[in-house]
Amino acid sequence: MANIGYGVVRTLRRQMFNHLQQLSLAFYDRNEVGRIMSRILNDVGSLENLLSNGLLLVFADLITLVGIVIILMTMNLELALITMTVIPILAVVMIIWQKYSRTAFLKVRTAISIVNANLQENISGARVIQSLSREDVNFRRFDSMNEANFDANVSATRLAGGLQPIVELLMGAAVAIVIIYGGSQAIAGKLLLGSLVGFVLYTQRFFDPIRDLSVWYTELQRAMAGGQRIFEVIDAKIEVIDAPDAVELPTIKGEINYDHVSFQYVEGREVIHDVNLHFNPGETIAFVGTTGAGKSTMVALVDRFYDVTTGSLTIDGYDIKKVTQESLRKQIGVVLQEPFLFSDTIRENIIYGREFATEEKMIEAAKAVGAHDFIMRLDKGYDTVLQERGSNLSQGQRQLISFARAVLSDPRILILDEATANIDTQTEVIIQQALKRLLQGRTSLVIAHRLSTIHDANLVVVMENGKIVEMGNHKELIEKKGIYYHLYTMSYAYNDDKAAPTDKHGTT
Ligand SMILES: Nc1ncnc2c1ncn2[C@@H]1O[C@H](COP(=O)(O)OP(=O)(O)O)[C@@H](O)[C@H]1O
Ligand SMILES: [Mg+2]
Repeated sequence: MANIGYGVVRTLRRQMFNHLQQLSLAFYDRNEVGRIMSRILNDVGSLENLLSNGLLLVFADLITLVGIVIILMTMNLELALITMTVIPILAVVMIIWQKYSRTAFLKVRTAISIVNANLQENISGARVIQSLSREDVNFRRFDSMNEANFDANVSATRLAGGLQPIVELLMGAAVAIVIIYGGSQAIAGKLLLGSLVGFVLYTQRFFDPIRDLSVWYTELQRAMAGGQRIFEVIDAKIEVIDAPDAVELPTIKGEINYDHVSFQYVEGREVIHDVNLHFNPGETIAFVGTTGAGKSTMVALVDRFYDVTTGSLTIDGYDIKKVTQESLRKQIGVVLQEPFLFSDTIRENIIYGREFATEEKMIEAAKAVGAHDFIMRLDKGYDTVLQERGSNLSQGQRQLISFARAVLSDPRILILDEATANIDTQTEVIIQQALKRLLQGRTSLVIAHRLSTIHDANLVVVMENGKIVEMGNHKELIEKKGIYYHLYTMSYAYNDDKAAPTDKHGTT
């Protein structure tokens, strides 16, 4: 029994994990981590009892029930039918009860899921919470969610408990009917007293499996509430999928073309409006614009983390919707402002996804981005195990590791989304030199705040509210004295006063 029960639990978790890995980023935008975790752990756990103990017992109960019914009927058909008149009443009670219990059990599942989501956020955000002294407020919030969870459990249990007395009551009623009816027959001499006593004893046995079954029925309702939530995950639609006739993207040169691309994260709120762009292979393109202009979105579309809503995006003439995601992403390297490192050694983190890479290649990549030195200074060098998300490294060091990861993967297209935000100017110079060499023959899309990166770009794309407002190289755009010029004087003048065309106060 345990084997089958836990086997089902294991299979469900496996399917959920596998599905979660394929679900598009849009799913993760919509669902909190804690709630997803709750579905995999708690909701699946709610099936454990039913599956590992219930199934066989229910089966046994059903067989007993059938056996007793046959015995009762052969003993005295009339009395047997009278006994069973309570069954329809029980059925009606169950149907009504089920309606309420389903809601109550679902509430239990939601309540614990809310507690989990809140926990997850508070644990991950411990630093921010402590720095803003929000402990008290958050504690009160947690307390109220915890309380709601308690309430939900108590009222569900109360409801579950309520079914038993009703079953007992009906059982008593049935015995009473048998005794009254059978008794009068015995007095009339139509029935032997011994038969009546025997029948009453069997009637009691008749209710044993029913009592048991009603307990398992409660358990079933509890499990169904969990099951519903499990299948919401397993059935969640994967938005970005390989087309049935998707082809392998051959080794690309890196030509990117946006053809009337529009995009919306949420229905009805377009964030990229009808963009047309063309990048030649090997070019460095810098995206510039105020926060929220749509820069990150523009580059995320290239990696097909989201599908364009209308229009098309082609790489080397291939519509990226028509090639396999794997062959596409293998040729694109991404470095983000918040690099994600895994709780593993530095070596494993660098070769993540490129497990076949040799030790030399790995070290070469680390050297290329200037990470080798600091790694060697660590106690265990490349074998240093990172704590969660690399919290035992500085932010800049984490970025260097994710740079090494991108370099090792030798991508045709490199996407840097504010990737140098936490790296000091000196290290950036090292990376810039390394990248210059590495980017030969590669297309790179760069979102950066540092002037040096933008200076060298072949093309600067200026975005505002999801539209391209200016395009050209740095020099042309400065001369144009348009939006770029204003952005540049406003945001860069302070950081880089030597290169700034205006005085430090940004008065133009
Ligand atoms: N995951 C998301 N879900 C919904 N809206 C989003 C999401 N990410 C970004 N946006 C919205 O899209 C717009 C562009 O965001 P983004 O591309 O991140 O800007 P930038 O990188 O230029 O600062 C913003 O208005 C932002 O609110
Ligand atoms: Mg951004």
